[in-house]
Amino acid sequence: MTDRIRIFDTTLRDGEQSPGCSMNLEEKLKVAAQLEALGVDIIEAGFAIASEGDFEAVQAVANMCDTAIVASLARAAAADIERAWAALKGARNPRIHTFIATSPLHMKVKLNKSPEEVLEAIRFSVGLARNLCGDVEWSAEDATRSDPDFLCHAVETAIRSGATTINLPDTVGYATPETYGAMFRDVITRVPNADQAIFSTHCHNDLGLAVANTLAAIIAGARQVEATVNGIGERAGNAAVEEIAMALRVRQDVMPYQTRIVTTEITRASRLVSGVTGMQVQANKAIVGANAFAHESGIHQDGMLKDSSTYEIMTPESVGQGATNLVLGKHSGRAAFRSKLAELGYDLSDNEFGDAFKRFKDLADAKKQVFDEDIIALVDDEVLRG
Ligand code: KIV
Ligand code: ZN
Repeated sequence: MTDRIRIFDTTLRDGEQSPGCSMNLEEKLKVAAQLEALGVDIIEAGFAIASEGDFEAVQAVANMCDTAIVASLARAAAADIERAWAALKGARNPRIHTFIATSPLHMKVKLNKSPEEVLEAIRFSVGLARNLCGDVEWSAEDATRSDPDFLCHAVETAIRSGATTINLPDTVGYATPETYGAMFRDVITRVPNADQAIFSTHCHNDLGLAVANTLAAIIAGARQVEATVNGIGERAGNAAVEEIAMALRVRQDVMPYQTRIVTTEITRASRLVSGVTGMQVQANKAIVGANAFAHESGIHQDGMLKDSSTYEIMTPESVGQGATNLVLGKHSGRAAFRSKLAELGYDLSDNEFGDAFKRFKDLADAKKQVFDEDIIALVDDEVLRG
């Protein structure tokens, strides 16, 4: 089995389903261009039948993209699949992504279909999509709450009908790494034609486990991951593409898999998506948060000044963030204060330094964060008072 992981970005489809995150055509084109620069393999550009705007966006992204495969979502209905194809047919590399739910709850309550009717819908929808397009992905919505025997049967049917990628989503973020990995292992082992398709993960973050579950599925044999920039998406969001890419990059020792992600483009992608959706990135968000490479405590700052690997497992430059930020606050120590003074061009005597450090600590007790201007004012005052 290959160790190459395809990245399927669904920021423009599942990400856009995040409340308040809709994007207009121009914004979607900008995001798609940045996703190509980021090196994602597949861009899910939208749900062509959802609206005229979505159709136009899928079509425009399909016509614009050079290297990435462009996908549109479609339910298991002829009208959806034909609309997806109408939007995609100008793409260099089109993919129809069709899905139907396979859990007892969804089949009964939402679809009002028997398991046999769902299998028939899979045969019909995947077959129709494959007649139009050589690249067809099929998703078993709510796979993680599906009966394992039925799920295997559904997957086998989808592959036999022409699906080239099989996605097993954790639609409601219910799985744990152990159960999600086990589901992939079970399906890949039991389905007789499993070797004819690439298996894909698609994780939601309702329990905060989306990235952990994605990694567990990779270890169990998945070779495509579906994710969004900044983890935006329905409810608590989707697995965050930047977290998956960096986890695979940083932990090659235990996960020796390769992606084509250009990690230095990560921060640019994050800021663009945050800007066009208005969805702010929390400061302590892994990889792209404002504090992801900031250090305030004296012990950490001292370590960082000696060797950055003491408290950073990757560099900010490697993800396109500026530089490590040693934030001056009440937890900061002499080493960081001395380094800041040198950076600002001050060379104080030992006595001056001792007094300035004491005044800095008093100020930091009163203020959440001490800025360069505060230090300059404090030291100039100290030197003048001599
Ligand atoms: O979460 C989900 O199940 C989905 C499918 C449509 C792939 O987004
Ligand atoms: Zn989803």
